[in-house]
Amino acid sequence: MTRKTPAELRSARWFSKDDLRSFGHRSRMMQMGYSEEEFVGRPMIGILNTWSELNTCHSHFRERVQDVKRGVLMAGGIGVEMPALSVDESNTKPTSMLYRNLLAMETEEMIRSHPLDGVVLMGGCDKTTPGLVMGAISAGVPLIYLPAGPMLRGNYAGRILGSGSDAWKYWDERRAGKISDAEWQGVQGGIARSAGTCMTMGTASTMTAIADAMGITLPGASSIPAVDSGHQRMSADCGRRIVDMVWEDVTPDKIITASACRNAAVVAMATGCSTNAVVHLIAMARRAGHDLTLDDLDALGRVTPLIANVRPAGKDYLMEDFYYAGGLRALMKQIEDRLDTSCLTVTGRTLGENLEGA
Ligand code: FES
Repeated sequence: MTRKTPAELRSARWFSKDDLRSFGHRSRMMQMGYSEEEFVGRPMIGILNTWSELNTCHSHFRERVQDVKRGVLMAGGIGVEMPALSVDESNTKPTSMLYRNLLAMETEEMIRSHPLDGVVLMGGCDKTTPGLVMGAISAGVPLIYLPAGPMLRGNYAGRILGSGSDAWKYWDERRAGKISDAEWQGVQGGIARSAGTCMTMGTASTMTAIADAMGITLPGASSIPAVDSGHQRMSADCGRRIVDMVWEDVTPDKIITASACRNAAVVAMATGCSTNAVVHLIAMARRAGHDLTLDDLDALGRVTPLIANVRPAGKDYLMEDFYYAGGLRALMKQIEDRLDTSCLTVTGRTLGENLEGA
């Protein structure tokens, strides 16, 4: 594999020239306390962070970004955090659907206009995955997607609670007079009890599974609960790996191929995915130049077995259980013969190689 030289870095266009404009860029980096040795000739990694205090699913991202930076630094790059539109389901009215494309536009322009050689995209709550990925596909620099991870199982008085479905269930019970106000309050306090995205196979876990199956997350990253220490290690690994991806010039067009999009669709069907997968997967595939259609998804849905027993399509389990059962790598291993395992992933290895030992 050929490796880029420091002079070939995209950021060299900002920092390595002997002209007035580059003088300005360098002096402004030094304004923040950096020495030239820290940012000239090293991959500059944009860490696009969709954290906000009203995006309850991403409340751990303020800490996780430090883990990513740690990884970038270890690998010899420089990591710069850049806040991006924090599209959330939990507190947005009338619907976050209006803002997916706004995030995509913002992501693309933030990358295009800055001295970035690669990006780590921090998202998870429903629309952030397609929004960030669509924008970064257009920008074209190497990317890794860092999924927020699902929250822990909900719990009230020993009963397991799932995001979404149990809210509706207990609301109906309350309206029917079957539970007291105190019990309703208990459900309210127990249904979302840690950082992370909804822990059913709703849109968030569907879309991060799609990103995982496409090969743009580290293998199995989408299944790691948000507050597991493995999530911190995965975040640091994202930082380390993106630096090498820059040197190796592993751009998204080499990963998000038509076959990778088809793999993502098959995996989505096998998980019992959210119907929103249709809207976002088609948009992501078309952004990458592949004409995935409704008919394609319909055809794959008819022949792909549903093998994940995760609510709401399944009866018993939530994302935390799915992780303990082996997570998405285990699921993909079971349907390996239905996937194109030759697809390249962010690891620099193929999907098939990533599934070895799953
Ligand atoms: Fe963020 Fe459900 S509200 S994932």
